[in-house]
Amino acid sequence: MDHVRVLISAEQISEAVQVLGARLTEDYQRRNLTVLGILTGSIVLVTDLIRQITLPHQLGLVQASSYRGTATEPGELRINMEFLPDLRDRDVLLVDDIFDTGKTLTAISQQLLQHGPRSVQTAVLLWKSARRQVQAVPDYYCFEIPDEFVVGYGLDFDHQFRHLPYVGVLEPSGESEAG
Ligand code: IMP
Ligand code: MG
Repeated sequence: MDHVRVLISAEQISEAVQVLGARLTEDYQRRNLTVLGILTGSIVLVTDLIRQITLPHQLGLVQASSYRGTATEPGELRINMEFLPDLRDRDVLLVDDIFDTGKTLTAISQQLLQHGPRSVQTAVLLWKSARRQVQAVPDYYCFEIPDEFVVGYGLDFDHQFRHLPYVGVLEPSGESEAG
């Protein structure tokens, strides 16, 4: 059984999401905000974050999945926009769990431009800056983290661990006391 070493506690996440929500509330005044969560990893962040944005705004979801091969092979990204709300003249904030290589958020941002939004910006809980493979950086992020595989607060390993209230690093059993 794998163990999870806590990297960012539930309390730290809660504080950071409050701060981010306050910043977005300030930055998106007098604009037409649509928060667009990327399924599945963003759902925990999105539900917490929208309750910290004290402006009228809309919520939408898109689904993205990447099928990664070896490290030298670029992963194939599939985007399902079936549930996309009308984005014409909207100020879109794309929300995801993590900005890793940045390919997912960059590809979705580019595809969304075809739907006529007024602006597209990105917000993530985690930014693994050392792994970036695109020009863009996240417009908003809560924590910059080292290049380690993390789970919890929406992030999964093999469809597990999304429900953890904290973000942690998976470790083989015997190396950590956290459960
Ligand atoms: P990117 O396109 O490389 O930025 O990858 C973004 C997606 O990869 C995220 O939405 C996650 O689903 C997944 N991902 C990247 N790093 C991690 C990690 O450390 N733990 C869990 N999922 C990750
Ligand atoms: Mg994901």
